[in-house]
Amino acid sequence: MLFVGTLAWAIFMMLTSRLPVFSVTVDGFSGLDDRVPRAFNLTMAVDNLGGTYEVCVGGETVVLYGGVPLATGGVEKLCVPPKGAADLAVVAASGGVGLPEALAELMAAEKRADGAAHVEVRVISEKHNWLLSCTAALERAAARPYPCKKSLMIDESDGVRPARWQ
Ligand SMILES: *[C@@H]1O[C@H](CO)[C@@H](O)[C@H](O)[C@H]1NC(C)=O
Repeated sequence: MLFVGTLAWAIFMMLTSRLPVFSVTVDGFSGLDDRVPRAFNLTMAVDNLGGTYEVCVGGETVVLYGGVPLATGGVEKLCVPPKGAADLAVVAASGGVGLPEALAELMAAEKRADGAAHVEVRVISEKHNWLLSCTAALERAAARPYPCKKSLMIDESDGVRPARWQ
């Protein structure tokens, strides 16, 4: 009886639980096509509604275009309990103004082809040994969440890189 109960519980948990879901919304950005400092206002969302364990983020963020870092910022520590969800405001900025010409041309070409340029937002939780990578469109009007992929990090002599995408 106990065995059957345990088995039923395990199956129930398997069917109802799921991994946390992360997303990023670009609420505002500047300094890409205007002569003001580069900055990105981001909202990071953690959906742990189907989770069975607490999930924590915190560390730093980098916004990249074509693999080139445009802005960086700190990410406050946030822990979301199972069955919980929370948003976190993140600001990434740089001392730079505008874009290097080659990047600006790439971005303009992508905008012509796809309607919007897409940046990569990375959130690195060094302490927890994983990072998120989210590809988000830069749209002035309709900010919406873009999903993130989570990967574990491994240390290599030439730096930290994703071990595998989950
Ligand atoms: C980011 O948000 C702050 C506070 O709301 C605002 O003052 C600033 O203009 C925003 N920056 C961008 C680039 O959207």
